[in-house]
Amino acid sequence: MQTNNVTLAMVKSNEEIKTLIDTANHNLEVMGYTEHGVRHVSFVSRATSEILFELGYDARMVELGAIAGWIHDIGNAVNRRQHGISGAVMTYQILTRMGMLPAEIALIVSAIGNHEEEVGIPVNPICAALIIADKSDAHRSRVRKDKFNLNDIHDRVNLSIKKNFITVDKEHKTIKLFIYMNEISSPVEYMQIYMSRIILCEKAAATMGCSFELIINGNAVNRRQDISVSEAMLKEGDFIGKRVEYQTKEK
Ligand SMILES: [Fe+2]
Ligand SMILES: [Fe+2]
Repeated sequence: MQTNNVTLAMVKSNEEIKTLIDTANHNLEVMGYTEHGVRHVSFVSRATSEILFELGYDARMVELGAIAGWIHDIGNAVNRRQHGISGAVMTYQILTRMGMLPAEIALIVSAIGNHEEEVGIPVNPICAALIIADKSDAHRSRVRKDKFNLNDIHDRVNLSIKKNFITVDKEHKTIKLFIYMNEISSPVEYMQIYMSRIILCEKAAATMGCSFELIINGNAVNRRQDISVSEAMLKEGDFIGKRVEYQTKEK
């Protein structure tokens, strides 16, 4: 029987989904990837639903976002490659068996099938919020204890991130990702890994009518949509002036 009452609690307690999350996390551990288990999917589920809630989407969309976030990485139980697509196909079958309405399943599989930067396009608000939530989860708690390697850029970047959070300003239509990292790594190393993901986050925010800002250690890294061309030119002029003055002093 089909119902629209499949909840996050039901998804969380589903044995099939639990097993797939654990298997995905195990497989990625064997391959040397950072944590993708319950900690990661909890963060992504919560952040996806909070983004949708703060932007004013209705309660059911918020819950569907939370469900998509919880399930989004189960495709890694099959293979890392194209895990968004394999995960979406698996999700379709599981949620159908659980009795979710086809229209709701369609939103969730569209989101999961498009959450990775290689092939992903933010096709609906759940997908957009999921992308931002997923790509925001860089943190030292994702590094696997006793297994990290400081020669690995992913471990270095994650280990260096002490704090990460997202803010949503509905009035100014801005979503910000704040990252605080220490000297174990650097913003340049972060961008080496995250460049294509941040560009996807910008597209995702635009899908929801917002701009996306990445702020590392208090500094805006990507283009701020709220700065006009004339403001930017003025800032550039200030900079050139200071630089000339500095060079004059050096002589
Ligand atoms: Fe993923
Ligand atoms: Fe993920």
